[in-house]
Amino acid sequence: MAILHFTVSKYAPRMNNLRYYTELTSSLSRLAAEGKVPFAEIDALRDVLRFHEHRYQILNDPLIADVEYDQLFKALEKLEKEHPESIRPDSPTQRVATGLSKDFPTVAHLVPMLSLENSYDADDLLDWDRKARELTGLSELAYCVEPKFDGASISLIYEGDLLTRGATRGDGVQGDDITVNIRQIRSVPLRASFSRYGINQIEIRGEVLINKSNFAKYNAQLAESNLPPMANPRNAAAGSLRMKDPKEVSKRNLEAFLYHVSYYTIVGEAITPGAAVGLPESTVHDAPHTHSGMLDMLWDLGFRSPKQERRVFNGIAEVIKYCHEFEENRDNLPYEIDGMVIKVDDLGLQDKMGMTTHHPRWAIAYKFKARQATSKLRKVEFQVGRTGSITPVAKIDPVPIGGVTVSSVSLFNEEVVRDKDLKIGDTVLVERAGDVIPYIVRSQPEVRTGEEEDIIFPTHCPVCSDALFKPEGEAVWRCININCPAQVVERIIHFVSKDAMDIRSLGEANVRRFYEAGWLKDVPGIYTLPFDQFSSLEGFGKKSITNLQSAIEASKTQPLHRLIFALGIRYVGETTAKTLAQTVDHILDFTEWRLEQLLTLEDVGPKVAGSIYQFFHNEDNLHMLRELEKLGLTLKRSQPENIPGGGSLKDQSFLFTGTLSRMTRSEAEALVEQQGGKILGSVSSKLNFLVVGEDAGSKLEKAKKITSIRILTEDAFLDMVSK
Ligand code: IVH
Repeated sequence: MAILHFTVSKYAPRMNNLRYYTELTSSLSRLAAEGKVPFAEIDALRDVLRFHEHRYQILNDPLIADVEYDQLFKALEKLEKEHPESIRPDSPTQRVATGLSKDFPTVAHLVPMLSLENSYDADDLLDWDRKARELTGLSELAYCVEPKFDGASISLIYEGDLLTRGATRGDGVQGDDITVNIRQIRSVPLRASFSRYGINQIEIRGEVLINKSNFAKYNAQLAESNLPPMANPRNAAAGSLRMKDPKEVSKRNLEAFLYHVSYYTIVGEAITPGAAVGLPESTVHDAPHTHSGMLDMLWDLGFRSPKQERRVFNGIAEVIKYCHEFEENRDNLPYEIDGMVIKVDDLGLQDKMGMTTHHPRWAIAYKFKARQATSKLRKVEFQVGRTGSITPVAKIDPVPIGGVTVSSVSLFNEEVVRDKDLKIGDTVLVERAGDVIPYIVRSQPEVRTGEEEDIIFPTHCPVCSDALFKPEGEAVWRCININCPAQVVERIIHFVSKDAMDIRSLGEANVRRFYEAGWLKDVPGIYTLPFDQFSSLEGFGKKSITNLQSAIEASKTQPLHRLIFALGIRYVGETTAKTLAQTVDHILDFTEWRLEQLLTLEDVGPKVAGSIYQFFHNEDNLHMLRELEKLGLTLKRSQPENIPGGGSLKDQSFLFTGTLSRMTRSEAEALVEQQGGKILGSVSSKLNFLVVGEDAGSKLEKAKKITSIRILTEDAFLDMVSK
């Protein structure tokens, strides 16, 4: 292949050059904080943003806090507004969607998107391997094995290194052009340097997924809004891709895994000059000759390909072993897979083997065991949630599904029960997809005996016996007694949860235990727990008590947005909590806000505004907030002026204790030093800040006795360094 000569731009992405990016980030962040990034740095700013997108989306290892990213992003938006002529389609700002997409036009795939042949056990794979060896005339083949992602398939086209089209699978020959929505997926690079491999135009295939935790959050939001939940992450991903409003797509946090190159063209000697801008290195490679090489190439170009998960084996025996290992481990993955795909690794051999009209002969899917089973619905119980919602829960005969025994299945609301035509005594088909909560797919009315009974919804709360209430147009019945014990416990559980105040050692079980013991009656009660009585509790040693005390103490300095989220205001998720936290100096300022003012906030519509307004006009809630403040919680926005030097850490001393979750200790220390702060070796009155990670030990104990030391959680620290 002809050797291509590229000019490397000044701001060539050097994804592996951590030092370069850390330094560039901190100098740009400083300028961004002052609102003074010069236009001359616009390419550097774009490059830094791309680098951090890659760290976050692909490597799962962010180096900066979200707020710092946002600040840099806003600086770029400002510069581009002042100099619109400089905007290119691959700028990080160009993912931002405007307007609604009309109908999605139908487009033809460059190569038809075929399906895969299925196999279900080792014998099927042995048979397939035998046929593959016969076809190729080889005694042993090298196979690449990778996960079979359970989402919605997509095809992407890049031309001259730019993403030009994204489409759904459709009927395999033609799909829908969903480019606007694909651009919202942050793990899909808007530009990738295929030209480094001499590639001019390329079509790649992959799967769009919604990971398990985002899926759970999304379903929780739907439940809050009384909308029926999505059955599984696959449906959620497929539905999200076809939404009319790209802004909504962006909120779903979709991810794309790319696993197949179906077509590409090679450039000759002539290369368009523009394509060379921003190339990673001057090195030029040949396009790979193996499938695994293609996956590695995609990874190196910034795609989330299964490079880390894929293995190449000689012969089928090891392939079978790896498939079994992966199957056992599938629940530990953050996303859903429904099997493995085995591909002949050599692309030349793939060509030789060809395809049928339905599937390629060089690949086969190994499908994991079904996660469905039938059982009998014995009774329905009604649970009370944190906002008083009544959820019907089906109790079924215990049945093993995918290695877990399922005996309880949420039925969400009355409408779901009616739609699925469920009766007590019915035979039901239950599905459990990984970590996803089990659900009833359908009843089987054809095997009814006539003895089945209707499910009767209660008229009174099963916990406090108050009359239930169903607001007009909603599907959910509610207990509106704010002091209903079930709601109180659920509110405390939410308050201490990971994404809220993150008091890890005070999980659901302990909250229930302390509530039943009469030690914990409300949220402020968390901060006045009678620890001296804990020694009588089984399983509570001295160490657990100290850990719990430290975690509760550290939570007092959680940033304001976490506290707002922890309050469990209806419809206020993490994003709205952040907006609210950035809006006022003190949380109680909201008591003065009118409904119309709330409506001016980003992403706050009438329903959300109404709920916030109600919350801050309820005397019980205000009393609780004042109590929390008296107990030492931060109800104020984290103030940059607390830090001398207007945002830098000059003359401030820090010490870290416990395990940090977002960065290593040396990275955290480097951040402090970069901003002019000092690291101390021990706790003393000279120390200004102790940053507490998980399982903090004696340093925390000692620091608590010195009142001048501020104890920070990791999040509060990150908030501080990014200011
Ligand atoms: S290869 C020409 N690899 O599974 C062959 N497909 O049930 C292209 N899928 O249509 C497909 N993970 O949508 C391939 N690692 C993977 C996959 C994968 C999921 C999907 C794909 C395919 C379907 C077949």
